[in-house]
Amino acid sequence: MTGPTSQPFPETFLWGGATAANQIEGAHDADGKGLSIQDVLPQGIVGPRTAHPTPDNLKLEAIDFYHRYAADIALLAEMGFKVFRLSIAWSRIFPNGDDEKPNEAGLAFYDRVLDELERHGIEPLVTISHYETPLALAEKYNGWASRKLIGFYERYVRVLFDRYGHRVRYWLTFNEINSLLHFPIIGGAILTPKEELSRQDQFQAVHHVLVASALATRIAHEQIPDARVGCMVLAIPVYPLTPAPSDVLAALDADHTNLLFGDVHVRGAYPGYAMRYMRENGIELDITDEDREILTNTVDFVSFSYYMSVCETADPDQRHTGDGNIIGGVRNPTLRDTEWGWQIDPVGLRIVLNQFWDRWQKPLFIVENGLGAKDELVHVDGRPTVDDDYRIAYLNDHLLQVAEAIADGVDVLGYTPWGCIDLVSASTAQMSKRYGFVYVDRDDDGTGTLARYRKKSFHWYADVIRSNGASLRRGDGRP
Ligand code: BG6
Repeated sequence: MTGPTSQPFPETFLWGGATAANQIEGAHDADGKGLSIQDVLPQGIVGPRTAHPTPDNLKLEAIDFYHRYAADIALLAEMGFKVFRLSIAWSRIFPNGDDEKPNEAGLAFYDRVLDELERHGIEPLVTISHYETPLALAEKYNGWASRKLIGFYERYVRVLFDRYGHRVRYWLTFNEINSLLHFPIIGGAILTPKEELSRQDQFQAVHHVLVASALATRIAHEQIPDARVGCMVLAIPVYPLTPAPSDVLAALDADHTNLLFGDVHVRGAYPGYAMRYMRENGIELDITDEDREILTNTVDFVSFSYYMSVCETADPDQRHTGDGNIIGGVRNPTLRDTEWGWQIDPVGLRIVLNQFWDRWQKPLFIVENGLGAKDELVHVDGRPTVDDDYRIAYLNDHLLQVAEAIADGVDVLGYTPWGCIDLVSASTAQMSKRYGFVYVDRDDDGTGTLARYRKKSFHWYADVIRSNGASLRRGDGRP
């Protein structure tokens, strides 16, 4: 296949950036907000849980977007953002998750944020639940292990659609919904340690989340005439480590555990391979006729995060697993790593776009992608900045692959790279793992002024948006 046409990005392409409430807002107990599971995970996904919020938890203050949102949104507008992905902190709206009435002060905060986005002509893309389930739902019900969560989530989404439906068109039901199989506490607010959680309980929780997601889709379609609802999956293409058919099959099996989520969202029912897996593993889902009916409310588009690919093999001696975005997998000997050991694979993005398009024929939205790296603040012409050519190269190479996929015929709605303004990492809860175009002066020990500085990539991305992708550069120097 030859290169993409010189201008593959459609005029309507939604350029922007992505964040999540718990990683930017701070103000963890302001204005009636309840605690979320993030407030007791000071070391991120892999670290231990604490009984109460502890001062070493950077998310309690994060980058203080709660008070600085107007200036932050102005910076995004300066880059020309057309869309901004944010999540709503469930525990700002329902502090305990199971409250009868929503917290007005929490709702009013997002009114203000949406006002500001509107003022700058930036379209909001709202994640309803992004790894920040109210802590009380985890402690009282063991999170999504309980069917009751469907009702609490339904109450929450109805409030959001009533309040913001007239001004928010794009909705994502759950962040990286497939993460529940890998990190039940983050994906499902399930406090039972993963090693003690039975496959039966885990799949039942997955079922509850899938039903809740389809229910939200149905309600949005009923209440908001032009709503576009998407699922959000963690995309991680799985390559066979060798051409041995057993490795190819192992890769297919691993792929299925992720594709299952998109399959249910797009096709409205469980695929055969999932039924077989459950049958052979003694999993008997409690699935009602009403559940089956709800699942038929399929999504308008599929959104996903993409950071890396992995390999898979049937040979236990070759299973050298590496670090990675929640899922991880067998290391690919042909790829380079980031400083955090995530393998860099721009072509994998083109592959996954084609795979999803071929499989589902639904518009696709890349709602996370980016390089977590350590940045050094320098002064150029007396101004603090970061010379982040490494980030520019990473994003440039990935966007060229998006262009290739569009030229392949894939319908791509937009691109919102992760952490467009530096934020607290989800996996490690560090500040030093930075993704942003905007540098935030805060360190891992919590010190710093919280001042914002434009990085070199800030100006680069502004050019990309202004030229609708025409300023991207091929590795060989050709435009
Ligand atoms: C995704 C999450 O898994 O990856 C984000 O949706 C997260 O919340 C992002 O921040 C990057 O991961 P990390 O661990 O580098 O913050």
